[in-house]
Amino acid sequence: MFPIHRPRRLRQTPQLRRMVSETTLTANDFIYPLFAVPGEGIANEVRSMPGVYQLSIDKIVEEAKEVRDLGIPAIILFGLPEAKDTEATGAWHDHGIVQRAATAVKEAVPDLVVVADTCLCEYTNHGHCGYLQVGDLSGRVLNDPTLELLKKTAISQVKAGIDIIAPSGMMDGFVRAIREGLDEAGYGDTPILSYTAKYASAYYGPFRDAADSTPQFGDRRTYQMDPGNAREALKEVELDVLEGADMLMVKPALSYMDIIWRIKEMTNLPVAAYNVSGEYSMIKAAALNGWIDEKRVTLETLTSFKRAGADIILTYHAKDAVRWLAEG
Ligand code: PBG
Ligand code: ZN
Repeated sequence: MFPIHRPRRLRQTPQLRRMVSETTLTANDFIYPLFAVPGEGIANEVRSMPGVYQLSIDKIVEEAKEVRDLGIPAIILFGLPEAKDTEATGAWHDHGIVQRAATAVKEAVPDLVVVADTCLCEYTNHGHCGYLQVGDLSGRVLNDPTLELLKKTAISQVKAGIDIIAPSGMMDGFVRAIREGLDEAGYGDTPILSYTAKYASAYYGPFRDAADSTPQFGDRRTYQMDPGNAREALKEVELDVLEGADMLMVKPALSYMDIIWRIKEMTNLPVAAYNVSGEYSMIKAAALNGWIDEKRVTLETLTSFKRAGADIILTYHAKDAVRWLAEG
């Protein structure tokens, strides 16, 4: 008789399909990004990211409660400071915007995990992720001096209540520098989620509107990775593991599923995928035009990150996704 093997036997009913389902998305998988701005009562929708807002700290706290009530375990904070300078003072100041937001959230919602994106681009007047040589117009960030600023930033963030440090600047040695800084400051138990393989991507465009972090000149190609490179990502993994990273991130996610997969195959550390702003905005734009089914496309996309090997997904869709998952 032909065919002997009929895979459709197991696809006949929802119950059978559920029994053989390999990938399940839950609220536990998500980290929800939030953008903190100075002021009170502020909620500015980001032009290129419908449904995403720059929020003053009082609104961040409300949002944090909602996220907790949905069962999402964590948020990641980005900050828009009052002022920017060459030293990125707003990043490491004890009363910086992220520090104040972290303290307020931890006081109101202590059981929510609060991650900090530990980088300098939102705080430098030129928009690059570290120190530049005076007069440099190319954006070749000075690596080792920048490590000192990152260390200082991480310590002040943890002091303010941050639970996990997520350095995103792709500086050489940043995990080791931050690990040493935290250990010396008495924060040996604070985990580091490293942006291990972060590509120089056009998909960050909408985020730079949200975080006001567009470089004023040059680009980030001397520190972020070339989109064509995969083995180089594995080299970055080796270094981050040696330097003491606790979790590894791939960013962006959608165009880099092969990298998520390859990293998952080579390490036993948890792997995170950052479903970035441009990926979010593409779905939102098509959905607002009525061209795609937003719920189905979003859940399919998030499921595929998990299938590719992501244990954790940073996504602006997190709140919607949890509500849709509950609807079934
Ligand atoms: C800061 C940072 C960026 C993102 C996260 N952290 C922007 C960049 O590198 O230019 C992008 C997130 C997104 O696009 O959603 N270094
Ligand atoms: Zn940066």
